[in-house]
Amino acid sequence: MKEWTREERYRVLQSPDEIRELYDRTRLSVYRQHYHVQPITGLSSDPNGFALHKGVWHLCYQWCPWGAVHGLKYWYHTVSRDLVHWENAGIGLKPDCFYDNRGTHSGSAISRGDDLYFFYTGNHRDEDWTRTPYTCAAVLGADNTLRKLPEPLFGPRDSHSEHQRDPKVVWNPVKQRYYIFIGAQTKDLRGCVLVYESAELLSGWRFAGQLKVPGYESFGGMWECPYIVNISGRDVLIFSPQYTKLPGRGESTNHNVYLIGRMDYDTLTFTPDGDYRHLDYGFDFYAAQGAANVGDPDKAILIAWIGLPDNHYPTEEEDWEGSLSLPRELRIRDGKLLQTPIPAVESLREEELPPDSLLPAACELEVRPAEGDFELKLFTRGDGSGGLLFRWDAARGTVTVDRTGLDKRFNQQVGEVLSFSPDTPLRDLRVFIDSNSAEFFLNGGEATFTTHVYPTEDEHHLSVTPGASLRLWRLGTSVTDAFVC
Ligand code: FRU
Repeated sequence: MKEWTREERYRVLQSPDEIRELYDRTRLSVYRQHYHVQPITGLSSDPNGFALHKGVWHLCYQWCPWGAVHGLKYWYHTVSRDLVHWENAGIGLKPDCFYDNRGTHSGSAISRGDDLYFFYTGNHRDEDWTRTPYTCAAVLGADNTLRKLPEPLFGPRDSHSEHQRDPKVVWNPVKQRYYIFIGAQTKDLRGCVLVYESAELLSGWRFAGQLKVPGYESFGGMWECPYIVNISGRDVLIFSPQYTKLPGRGESTNHNVYLIGRMDYDTLTFTPDGDYRHLDYGFDFYAAQGAANVGDPDKAILIAWIGLPDNHYPTEEEDWEGSLSLPRELRIRDGKLLQTPIPAVESLREEELPPDSLLPAACELEVRPAEGDFELKLFTRGDGSGGLLFRWDAARGTVTVDRTGLDKRFNQQVGEVLSFSPDTPLRDLRVFIDSNSAEFFLNGGEATFTTHVYPTEDEHHLSVTPGASLRLWRLGTSVTDAFVC
């Protein structure tokens, strides 16, 4: 693995020519995705600035141009009309001023009139590497030019640690106010959310308080990327707690969870109705962000980073890494959160294949499990050995996913086997496979499981328990991968 100096990781991109060779090399990789947003070069991590604006979906990702390393972060901008076909639109935000001299870190967007407003964390570091996070804004105007505000909206609060970032802006129609949620850490190293409010988007921001979440006062050391959304009258708090292990999650210390409950904007209290749940039970799912301006009070649209902080993936050898997840629709049914792939993804189905075909690099599987125990093996070798195992144990009511059988092993230190118990017995399964990822949607979206996977040339077979019915479609390509920089 390449060792990076700080100078190399934090180099400012002066001209697209500096990454042209890397781009030309990267796009030849067999692990390039067909229908998932991925880094043009280098590394992509969190989704940022996700909003519907004048009929176009805007979505950026945290981008380090230079290689598979977390260094100087830009926002790379992509656009889509249907959440399936994405085009590269060039650099969104670049670190070019005092307040963001060491990175334009994560944040969100909201559309108003002709303008799309971006809110992000300016990651400032002094000479001695002391960090000051600023909450900054930029406006994408009707003429398609992006204008950064010269001054931040607000700086960090002295009452909390230096970890204050990831502004998520929302409009509250009842209070007639905008709110910004900031992921934060208390001085005694507990994760929390700071709340700001204003009647205007670019001025008047005032600290409203630290969000109270009864029962979650000591739940992880930092809450990244917090977000509160109302779906069908219920509030959902989504966040990524880190620096803690959670039951059933192996050695991982990075998680993405949600609480369903009631948000009181007067007392700044989010009262959960029950325990936290994992947004996704897979190995690689983090920093999920909901889109703004969805325009339907009964659903949210969410996208996440397929990956985790502090983890490493095999394409590092090729100097790039990362992918965003499929966008998902979130709905509440009978008090439960259901997550389903956006319906437009069906437009990618090119050809239905016999169920005993080899797995195409981009494909979708629909499985109706047989009664009782069930096993699906993906990416097995020609002789049926190895692969990624998905097993349903009917007596215990658990799903286990085991990636130890794959030739390319990675992140063994956090664990390669995960189990979880869906609320109801396994009755249906949809699997979306792309060159380096697999996303499982169970029981109409009751639970999901996302993992990276890097099959070798020999690993393209599948097998399923006798009696299960299976349909398989080859999917088309919907990300352009053009060099727009
Ligand atoms: C989450 C995160 C954010 C931060 C960004 C920096 O993965 O750590 O909290 O803004 O990544 O890239």
